[in-house]
Amino acid sequence: MSAHTSPTPGPKRVRVHHLAEAKARGEKLAMLTAYDAVTAAIFDAAGMDLLLVGDSIGNVMHGHASTIPVTVDEMIPAARAVARATKRAFVVVDLPFGSYEVGPQQALETAVRVFKETGADGVKLEGGVRSAAQIRALTDAGIPVVAHLGYTPQSENLLGGPRVQGRGDDAVERLATDAQAVEDAGAVAVVLEMVPTDVAARITEIVGIPTIGIGAGPHCDGQVLVWTDMAGMTSWSPRFARRYAELGAVLQGAAEDYVAEVKDSSFPDAEHSFDK
Ligand code: KIV
Repeated sequence: MSAHTSPTPGPKRVRVHHLAEAKARGEKLAMLTAYDAVTAAIFDAAGMDLLLVGDSIGNVMHGHASTIPVTVDEMIPAARAVARATKRAFVVVDLPFGSYEVGPQQALETAVRVFKETGADGVKLEGGVRSAAQIRALTDAGIPVVAHLGYTPQSENLLGGPRVQGRGDDAVERLATDAQAVEDAGAVAVVLEMVPTDVAARITEIVGIPTIGIGAGPHCDGQVLVWTDMAGMTSWSPRFARRYAELGAVLQGAAEDYVAEVKDSSFPDAEHSFDK
């Protein structure tokens, strides 16, 4: 298959109504993170339905231990690069910690700036009932919002690190209430992170919007992974992430060959040099 043809049939450009239609048809949605134009173009050509410019950029690209230090000023150039390189996928940008929690006005100011400066199709923010007013304000302003429930990395200090959420009857009910709240507020989809399979299945049944799971089992309407986990760029990846390649090892091998050939002067050879 050519690198420029989408393997999955579907709309020319994924729009917000295609997400709901996919759920209604029982067609799964595939989403990956992307933080730059190079990977965004590759994933878009592979037929990705959604690309997430995640605040995981903090851990993955900027070397932070969490997403908490990430700023709007860091998200915007990454989102702009991804949106520019994308022809088909629906591009979602994370609102980073501190950029929307104060209230609907702050969320609106941040999301309007992100929207105007990046060309993205939607934004994502964490929280259920606690973020419903923000989701409503953005939706009323014409900005599609993806919600994020279950393990929400921006609250990692409160949650005690990356732990499965929604275990126990109370937690399941809270999660269901949160899911209903974000749907009622106008969210177009909801990410469920690190939630038991049966709980994610129940949430998927009770809400009308697509659920996109990460560590939430196979019954969600779609799946999202951090691309470096999926591609095996690092030696460790979370248990819920299947490694579809070992690109880190391939890249290191290529870099080692390059070092060796520079050292022994076999690169550049005549083929990679210019005559006068
Ligand atoms: O920032 C991110 O990569 C995310 C995914 C974990 C869903 O929010």
